[in-house]
Amino acid sequence: MSARQGGGVPISLTVNGSPASRTVEPRLLLSDFLRHDLELTGTHVGCEHGVCGACTVLLDGEAVRSCLLFAVQADGHAIETVEGLAPGGGAGGREGDLHPLQAAFHAAHALQCGFCTPGFLMTLVPFLRENPDPDEHEIREALSGNLCRCTGYKNIVDAVALAARKPGADARGAA
Ligand code: FES
Ligand code: FES
Repeated sequence: MSARQGGGVPISLTVNGSPASRTVEPRLLLSDFLRHDLELTGTHVGCEHGVCGACTVLLDGEAVRSCLLFAVQADGHAIETVEGLAPGGGAGGREGDLHPLQAAFHAAHALQCGFCTPGFLMTLVPFLRENPDPDEHEIREALSGNLCRCTGYKNIVDAVALAARKPGADARGAA
């Protein structure tokens, strides 16, 4: 719930390439702003204290934990959420519409319940941008800050290796 009593602060930012302006409570978390104010519920909230990585988004192209930032800290910045990876994809979309990393997760069966998946994707997009040909050790290190209760990680590692060989995996979504 985002309370609106007291002094709100006007913020303007870019989210998935579109401008967004709102007045928010100074204490409103960026994760809650994205989910509740902008209805971008692909960003998940697990631990809410920076441990699980489910809330990871890109801030000016760098992976950050949106539960550790206030919405006011995103004022003037560019935010990218999982919804921005495949504007034509998602539920009912074709696999061809997916970001190469999403398609690789699908192909390698790298998700089960999917709760952790948006955070993994938003962690790995900038990783592949900076390291387009990672070895297994580098992949495991890159995803070591994201928790998954279902997969055992093996298929996620396989998906990243698969995505690294796909053109565009390191580019789209990395604003
Ligand atoms: S919800 Fe942000 S790190 Fe877990
Ligand atoms: S797929 Fe269920 S938590 Fe990762």
